[in-house]
Amino acid sequence: MPHADRNLAHAVHADRDLIHAEDTMRDRLIVGLDVPTLKEAEKAVRELDGVVSFYKIGYQLAFAGGLDFARELASGGTRIFLDMKLLDIDNTVAKGVEAIVRMGMTMLTLHAYPKTMKAAVEAARGSDLCLLGVTVLTSMDEQDVIDAGYEYDPHTLVLRRSEQALHAGMGGIVCSAEEAEAVRRIVGPNMAVVTPGIRPKGSDHGDQKRVVTPAQAIRNGSSHLVVGRPIVGAADRRAVAEAILDEMRSA
Ligand code: C5P
Repeated sequence: MPHADRNLAHAVHADRDLIHAEDTMRDRLIVGLDVPTLKEAEKAVRELDGVVSFYKIGYQLAFAGGLDFARELASGGTRIFLDMKLLDIDNTVAKGVEAIVRMGMTMLTLHAYPKTMKAAVEAARGSDLCLLGVTVLTSMDEQDVIDAGYEYDPHTLVLRRSEQALHAGMGGIVCSAEEAEAVRRIVGPNMAVVTPGIRPKGSDHGDQKRVVTPAQAIRNGSSHLVVGRPIVGAADRRAVAEAILDEMRSA
């Protein structure tokens, strides 16, 4: 098999496990554990027990003891999306990915730079880790992208990076649900399309600029929805998570 095709086969395999589990919407909702302490994270997980089975751990919690917590949850069968948005020289990225594979994580993000993605795909080969390419952060609009020095508008940049992720053999894409439909057309049915920036009607947007409701995100072709503040910041987290799942099912 040519090299590029082997990469693609890996991506499809990594994703197949995830997409097969999607028969329940529960497996498609990822709650962002964006809390400052381990104690608060444990409390959120306890409150969401039986409703949520997939968590995202990012910078805030990772640097507050969250990596051991991620290992612990994963060893008990909970899926963990480690949102580390890696970007470094190839060797450093590869060694980091190898270590994260050993932690038993389900998903890992890296910035969708072609060289970075290729190094990560090589390092994750043979494992079940689903590598996700971050295209353009959902907190960025056209002016932010220009300020960052890119000549493309966010939409064009998202599509270009999705194509590069597909060719690199990545397991999926992180993008705004506004772009999920166009991304799905590029990456085909087998890659994960993971969308943050989800806001149920009437909820606070915070710093997110490209937001979509849970139902619309599903209709647009998202395989997984990442929801942070709307659930974690709610007084009744369980009720909000259940309402979001109902809305996803209704789509
Ligand atoms: O609180 P909220 O629902 O906005 O949380 C979204 C989560 O998804 C945050 O943890 C954020 O870091 C993450 N994320 C994002 N946009 C991306 C990639 C990740 O908002 N492109």
